[in-house]
Amino acid sequence: MHLYGTQTVNEKGHLAIGGVDVSELASQYGTPVMVYDTELFKKRANAFKKTFEDKGIKAQVAYASKAFSSIAIYQLAEQQGLSLDVVSGGELYTAVAAGFPRERIHFHGNNKSREEIIYAFEEKIGCMVVDNFLEIMLIKEIATERKQKMNVLIRVTPGVEAHTHDYITTGQEDSKFGFDLKNGQTDQAFNALHNHEYINFLGMHCHIGSQIFETDAFRFAAEVLMEKMVKWRETYQFICPVLNLGGGFGIRYTEEDQPLEPAVYVEEMAEVVKAMSEECEYPVPEIWIEPGRSLVGDAGTTIYSAGSTKEVPNVRTYVAVDGGMSDNIRPALYDAHYSSAAANRMNEPHDQQWTIAGKCCESGDKLVEKALLPNVETGDLIAIFCTGAYTYSMASNYNRLPRPAVVFAEKGQHQLVVRRETFEDLIKLDLPLQQLAKEIYE
Ligand code: LLP
Repeated sequence: MHLYGTQTVNEKGHLAIGGVDVSELASQYGTPVMVYDTELFKKRANAFKKTFEDKGIKAQVAYASKAFSSIAIYQLAEQQGLSLDVVSGGELYTAVAAGFPRERIHFHGNNKSREEIIYAFEEKIGCMVVDNFLEIMLIKEIATERKQKMNVLIRVTPGVEAHTHDYITTGQEDSKFGFDLKNGQTDQAFNALHNHEYINFLGMHCHIGSQIFETDAFRFAAEVLMEKMVKWRETYQFICPVLNLGGGFGIRYTEEDQPLEPAVYVEEMAEVVKAMSEECEYPVPEIWIEPGRSLVGDAGTTIYSAGSTKEVPNVRTYVAVDGGMSDNIRPALYDAHYSSAAANRMNEPHDQQWTIAGKCCESGDKLVEKALLPNVETGDLIAIFCTGAYTYSMASNYNRLPRPAVVFAEKGQHQLVVRRETFEDLIKLDLPLQQLAKEIYE
């Protein structure tokens, strides 16, 4: 069985995370509970930062907070010296509530509203990652009205599409994000921005996909963007101080996944940038990256309680847990695979095949098919590993299930960072039917 980060099996045969027995966390906070190994998060953050430092390259490592957005994780990211990628007014609001240094906040999104852009100006954030022509117009208008400067990067689609194990280069990319590099849109965006009085044009951004395992796609993207930067120097005598290569570094969900150490991806892209800078005598740009999954993914584990079981003879045996697609939509949405264990019976052979199902009213609400577990019984704790990214942030109240508690654990200590939703929380936005409406509907 593969354990992640600081996970161990303690003397009781229980899974421990950050030196804390998960059965203790389950009794104190209830289940489902999401447990983050904050030491592993810090290790990942530092590995990314150190790779750039060792290469003598100025960098910003921005946590792509769509992977898991909460005040405490933003504060932890800030302590580690990370920057922050936000994609909505709501994520920006969370960052503000966390006291995140505004100059290290980068604002993404393919349809930022006027209100969101004004909010970003009011908070004097570090950079807008401009995505489209409407946004260019809005930013210029708002900057001029407020007489306030804004740093911008433009998001471009470099014509490389990366999938988990391979990548393809496409002439023109069909993407809702960013400016096409090859059909002239990127130059048009550059020309609309770089000479503006209140715009400080920093350079380009790209993000080529997610859960990518190989380095070639990143190298290719770095190359293509560097080529464009060199062209702009020739044509406009403009030098871009920043190159943002996005996120997407793959992690190990199951033994089928064989990612490289996250920092290796960065090392390779940095090499390309350095080599091309040298070759073209171009000042080495600051490199920015935006890891999400690779910072929080394997640091998170969800602990559920086992409830009912059902045998379908000659087909499968189900064990149902007290959560499901409401707290982890990824298996249902993407056919994502996870590994699991019986967290209170770790030393018993995990040699029976189960299907771990959720409790939502959908047949497709299965969290792990073909999970190997001992002979689990009602009340056992089931851990699903590597749930730190895109689970809580994509969670819903489907079937009016309250969203789980989230806990940080490190060095034998633990802290609640998102409390479990209550039934009262579930109805707090609801309004009763009014008298007038009652008459209409009667
Ligand atoms: N930067 C940009 C501009 C992005 O769009 C994303 C992810 C990232 C960075 C971070 O990518 P990461 O390092 O986490 O792969 N919900 C999907 C993943 C969607 C990714 C969206 N963009 C999932 O559950 O797999």
